[in-house]
Amino acid sequence: MTEVGEIRIPHGKPFGPVGSLTLRSRREEDDPRLVEIYSLREGDSLPLTVERYRAEHAGKEPDRRGEVWVVEMGGRPAGFGRFSPAWWTGQPDIYSVEIRIDPAYGRRGIGTRLFDQLRSRLLELGATRLVSWVRADAGDGLRFAARHGFVETGEVIQEYRLSLREAKRGDAGRLEERLRHEGVRITSLAEAGGGEAFLRDLQHVWADSGEEPPDPQSLRHSFPSWRREVLDGPGLSPETHWVALDGDRPVGMTFLRRLSSDAAENDYTGVAASHRGRGIAPALKWKAIEWARQHGLNKFHTSSEVGNARMIAINRRLGYQSGPQRREVARDLS
Ligand SMILES: CC(C)(COP(=O)(O)OP(=O)(O)OC[C@H]1O[C@@H](n2cnc3c(N)ncnc32)[C@H](O)[C@@H]1OP(=O)(O)O)[C@@H](O)C(=O)NCCC(=O)NCCS
Repeated sequence: MTEVGEIRIPHGKPFGPVGSLTLRSRREEDDPRLVEIYSLREGDSLPLTVERYRAEHAGKEPDRRGEVWVVEMGGRPAGFGRFSPAWWTGQPDIYSVEIRIDPAYGRRGIGTRLFDQLRSRLLELGATRLVSWVRADAGDGLRFAARHGFVETGEVIQEYRLSLREAKRGDAGRLEERLRHEGVRITSLAEAGGGEAFLRDLQHVWADSGEEPPDPQSLRHSFPSWRREVLDGPGLSPETHWVALDGDRPVGMTFLRRLSSDAAENDYTGVAASHRGRGIAPALKWKAIEWARQHGLNKFHTSSEVGNARMIAINRRLGYQSGPQRREVARDLS
């Protein structure tokens, strides 16, 4: 265990007798309490189980470079801070960070102490930029981020939830048949099979989200982490990853990330720029809903950028209800 030592609470609110805190790296027995701290403020967001939390921290791959630090008070974690590479950026020196303090221990400098610790570790690791998402309804979180040099990037993510019993089929069911007539079929990754060349094409679809075509060099470089996070990570399976194929070529994808016994996140959905506007995304998403209903799930979570009018319309038609919004914040590190 790495222990940084005691923190004296400098002034301000007494906590019983003003005590000292211990800052140390996470131990496995902390996990139930860390999940509890997450859930205190995220009851309306994605559920987190101890099992999934552990699975996500079990990665021993050398390029993970993630750490979790815990502040302990009275023998019990009062908050934690974590970082891990922001793998989706394709840039090895950009990290995502998260700090969470049990509100009962808030406003006494614990968050700041954790941030200082994360910052010094990240400097040692050569990080140059940090990103984070803060709930738009969390004034303390937004203030904290601003005070620590983070600036809003303008990206805002809207979360949605769907009760699968209330999911609306609309014309999504008929789309698959129409697409088949047009030469586009939907299948699971398990059925599609496909070697590395196919998966690299799929990664291209995943990255082909905006106006700019994806940078081939960055895709090549990030293929192993993409594969680990999008295909092989905890809660993922080739059975719950659907692809749209035009001939043998992947032109669309959507996948589930199992969150708990009855909930999953319908994670990223993407359609190649060449195939948009043909109903491929709702057909894929409906396929995921059908599978989940047959396998006893009750709830889906998903999210999209607030400006993504097409995806928002698709989610609404399927019956998704809005949840919290998150604002992306970022800062350079030097
Ligand atoms: C944001 C969060 C991490 C802050 O944790 P914290 O331990 O309360 O942070 P700090 O105590 O260092 O700072 C919070 C405030 O308390 C003030 N403060 C710190 N020590 C103090 C003391 N001894 N006496 C009085 N005020 C104090 C700080 O000046 C700061 O004030 P401000 O909000 O006006 O800027 C916590 O509220 C949280 O977990 N929120 C949910 C998750 C989140 O949004 N995380 C941020 C992005 S990852």
